[in-house]
Amino acid sequence: MMLEVTKAQGAVKHWSFKMEKQEERWPGPPGMIPVTSGRADDAALFTRLYLDRIRVEMRVIGSVKPSLKTTLFGREFSSPIMMPAFSHLNKAVRDGPRPMEEYARAASSLGTLNFVGMEPDEEFAQIAKANPVTVRIIKPFADHGLIRSQIDFARSCGAFAVGVDIDHIAGRDGGYDVVDTIPMGPVMEDDLRQYAAMAGLPFIAKGVLSVSDALKAADAGCAGIVVSHHHGRIPFGMAPAQVLPEIRKALADAGSDMAVLADCSVDSGYDAYKLMALGAKAVCAGRSILRPLLKEGQKGVEAQIRKMNAELSELMLYTGIPDTSSFDPSVLHLC
Ligand SMILES: Cc1cc2nc3c(=O)[nH]c(=O)nc-3n(C[C@H](O)[C@H](O)[C@H](O)COP(=O)(O)O)c2cc1C
Repeated sequence: MMLEVTKAQGAVKHWSFKMEKQEERWPGPPGMIPVTSGRADDAALFTRLYLDRIRVEMRVIGSVKPSLKTTLFGREFSSPIMMPAFSHLNKAVRDGPRPMEEYARAASSLGTLNFVGMEPDEEFAQIAKANPVTVRIIKPFADHGLIRSQIDFARSCGAFAVGVDIDHIAGRDGGYDVVDTIPMGPVMEDDLRQYAAMAGLPFIAKGVLSVSDALKAADAGCAGIVVSHHHGRIPFGMAPAQVLPEIRKALADAGSDMAVLADCSVDSGYDAYKLMALGAKAVCAGRSILRPLLKEGQKGVEAQIRKMNAELSELMLYTGIPDTSSFDPSVLHLC
């Protein structure tokens, strides 16, 4: 897969993917989620291009093989590269291994953290059985009772943390989105405050892409945020890498130690390195694990994450970063 600029029209550039084969355009189940459009308003495409513009200087004298161990909410994980909050993938297979449980098992055997997105309670229970060290990300349902009951259910299944993908409010018609016939609704700061207080687990706001929302999430008592545009839901959305440094600074100035995670276009360990150097404590892989997951299940995901861990370690070794709490943004240069 190769990115290229096809033409420039005034200030707006149009990008396209050049593919060897048409079916390589998107590795996931057809029609389930937005395919990369190739258009200038596509935040996923912009994010890919932005990450690729960041170059890394070398600091090898005195550098030693790094440790990837990462502590989040009091638990130590083997690596800061964690699983994505995927959903609906079990619907893509008729029989055979169920993808949602397959990547949950991969997280468990790798010793990293699992995330899961919109799944009904009975599906979530199966995933939590495969790996209870799972974060359940619940949709911003208009019905707050449903959010509260899904939080309670996650806790009863032994979930590690819960959250809401606060960015999934808007639909393409300019109103609130409707997912699987369930209407979404607005998310108020007070709602977050209530969820964080009742959760009895770390509560995470996923889909923060501004200092303003990061500060509100911290004020509301969230234990963490995921800086993300949800593989490009918002048209013309910024790259998480652009906004991360400002968010880190604003939180530090406000005296907040809320955990900052990031995702979107984490396609390699090098992408993970850049996001961590810019202020993320951990990152979630996304569609980068989708193809190996759907092709080879747990084994495929494990191989992909191991490869990404090796790439992260390689770049840390080249830049004299001994562990995941010692990243330094001054090695990065936007070119
Ligand atoms: C099949 C699929 C299902 C997803 N479902 C959810 C979901 O239910 N909740 C959520 O917060 N994010 C969901 N996401 C978004 C991911 O958690 C993540 O934010 C995104 O994939 C990161 O961008 P990337 O794929 O470019 O790395 C989903 C992504 C995919 C590919």
